[in-house]
Amino acid sequence: MSIIYDKERRLFKLDTSGSTYVIGVYEENYILGLYYGAKIPDMHFDDFCDRTPNASFSLANPVITENGFTPDTAPMEYGCSGEADFRISALSIKNKNGDSVTDIRYADHRIFSGKKPLPGMPSTYANSDSEATTLEIDAVDSVSGALVTLVYTVFENQPVMTKSVRVKNTSDEPMILQRVFSSCNDFVTMDFDMITLNGRYAKERSIDRHPLSHGVQGIESKRGVSSHVHNPFVALAKHTATEDTGEVYGFNFVYSGNFSAIAECDFNDTTRFIMGIHPEGFEWTLNADDTFYAPEVVCVYTSEGIGEMSRIYHRFYNNNLIRGKYKTEKRPLLINSWEAAYFDINTEKLLAFAEVAKELGIEMLVMDDGWFGHRDNDRSSLGDWFVNTRKLPGGLKPLVDGVKAQGLKFGIWYEPETISPDSELYRAHPDWIVHVDNRTPMIGRHQYVIDMTRQDVRDNIWDQMNEVLSSNDIDYVKWDFNRNIADAGSAVLPKERKGEFFHRFVLGTYELLERLVSNYPDILLEGCSGGGGRFDPGMLYYSPQIWSSDNTDAIDRLDIQFGTSMCYPASCMGAHVSASKRTGYETKGRVAMWGTFGYELDPRKLTEEEKEIVKQRVSDYHRYYWLHRNGDLYRLISPFEDRYKAAWEIVSQDKSEMLFTLVYMKQQTASMLFLKFKGLDPEKYYFCEQNGKTYSGAFLMNAGLNLTDAANSDGGSMTLYFKEK
Ligand code: GLA
Repeated sequence: MSIIYDKERRLFKLDTSGSTYVIGVYEENYILGLYYGAKIPDMHFDDFCDRTPNASFSLANPVITENGFTPDTAPMEYGCSGEADFRISALSIKNKNGDSVTDIRYADHRIFSGKKPLPGMPSTYANSDSEATTLEIDAVDSVSGALVTLVYTVFENQPVMTKSVRVKNTSDEPMILQRVFSSCNDFVTMDFDMITLNGRYAKERSIDRHPLSHGVQGIESKRGVSSHVHNPFVALAKHTATEDTGEVYGFNFVYSGNFSAIAECDFNDTTRFIMGIHPEGFEWTLNADDTFYAPEVVCVYTSEGIGEMSRIYHRFYNNNLIRGKYKTEKRPLLINSWEAAYFDINTEKLLAFAEVAKELGIEMLVMDDGWFGHRDNDRSSLGDWFVNTRKLPGGLKPLVDGVKAQGLKFGIWYEPETISPDSELYRAHPDWIVHVDNRTPMIGRHQYVIDMTRQDVRDNIWDQMNEVLSSNDIDYVKWDFNRNIADAGSAVLPKERKGEFFHRFVLGTYELLERLVSNYPDILLEGCSGGGGRFDPGMLYYSPQIWSSDNTDAIDRLDIQFGTSMCYPASCMGAHVSASKRTGYETKGRVAMWGTFGYELDPRKLTEEEKEIVKQRVSDYHRYYWLHRNGDLYRLISPFEDRYKAAWEIVSQDKSEMLFTLVYMKQQTASMLFLKFKGLDPEKYYFCEQNGKTYSGAFLMNAGLNLTDAANSDGGSMTLYFKEK
């Protein structure tokens, strides 16, 4: 059993394949987080509970007079507000007396095989009960009557642990949840760098690394979505940790709305790290007997560096988060109409795209924005999800039939969470937009957000989508969301529940997504939000791939793809070749092949020479498909560290094949490059297809190859393919 309870010492030990996590129940039933790190067999944690009360006036529980125990310095497993733990708190509940002092103590626990889903929310899953073990610890706040259940699942064969929390009101009066974070960790050191993924539109997920310092620091989103600005991912890496060595803790929030991830380093040089729903703009009234479920955090520990942390996340998300047919099936190579034609689409043009695409070996045509209502630009028609018969005479059928006759699959674009003021839907239901009383709602890209908290709104959008999807043979849906949320309010939420808006909005979106994937299990869903503005594990539960960025320039994409790869697998990273000019089609193809790979251009405009390159890249896509899909990523040269170039490899799980890619952002004069490869089997021999030589894995990893001058030009690139001999 990977979770054990030592009854005598009142200790829980949770083991994954590579980590141990220890929770203790101390005097007066305080729950303490005693250890998280490399795997250990024994539990001598008796002296871990008590720490010197050396802050200013640390306060003690008068019942515990010995050992100097104080919540001010103790490693609290789930720090609460108001009860002498002055660090940033994970939980705050306003009780019937009107105060928010919150204090939970151990009451009970259960250990069982497998993992339960979270109702109405995405979560990772165990493929069989034997793959995972779950511990639920019940803790009680005796004044408010809150029953707080801390839920932990450890995976047998992966160094992964998930955490979530639920709160049940066992009293007979309502209580108000003011903050319910999903995970809390107290570390005995502040010897960490915080790694985060930050950005903006067209520049998503740049890697940022800086040492923790005293006080509070972190990242957040209050935009209603996980956002372009900060991804809900944090790694705490030891200062000495590198890509290949050292201790790293990863935390990734399985949620697509407002979040907060905060580290606080205190006067004892310890660190508390919490991650969860952002408490600002959140307040949840919990009636008697009701339960609130906080989303899940996926925690990864490794002592083998940042690269290994990434590979653990990649495998875990491919096996235990992504669902449906395309979890295992090959994804079709697509061409998307957006950068090819923007809003200027029609049946004839799309069929012409399909014809050339077929000749190039492309497998699916995706009709992006502009097919519905009377939409000719971004000023109208969101919410009117019926076919624009001026552009598509006779409806979708002639187009879909024509595309299918070419032997291609067909995909379509939606933006279900938004509404244009110039739409039939808005004119019929002006109160369906997200808004608050007496304020003019803000507008973005000429559109409002539609109130996804409402069942009637979701039903309307669903009926419209269902009408199109059920009467046409559609293989793919791109689900976009080109807005952030201000004026967060709903016409139907009562005054005392206004603080529930943001979370209810996310739950509403999840409900609609679940309807889509369960009614149309054969449809491939691709998430999107103005490029990669909602690239998070919550969306991955529904859409096995997510559009990474509207920036399709191959050089800019290096940063975006390196950043995204910090915790998200290649299988989900939407990457297309466009007509962008900074590099040729060779390099564009090599960069996009790392991700889901597709095209986003007018194929009729390609020269014969470009078409030949595209055909070559398409054939490479098929050839290396499963290597990319199932292989392990090794980042060799990061564009965040090298001004000139980037390089990466994909190694098959059995280490019998490897594909290496090197891209120069700009020419580097007078330079030498001896490149050492990674992740190979030192004992195996590998044949390099490009130079016809055979090398041992040991040679390639220790001596490396002299790649001086190889591909060294502005936007130049090369690939090398190695196969076990
Ligand atoms: C967003 C997406 C693009 C495209 C447009 C359509 O910007 O990221 O890929 O779908 O919307 O309006």
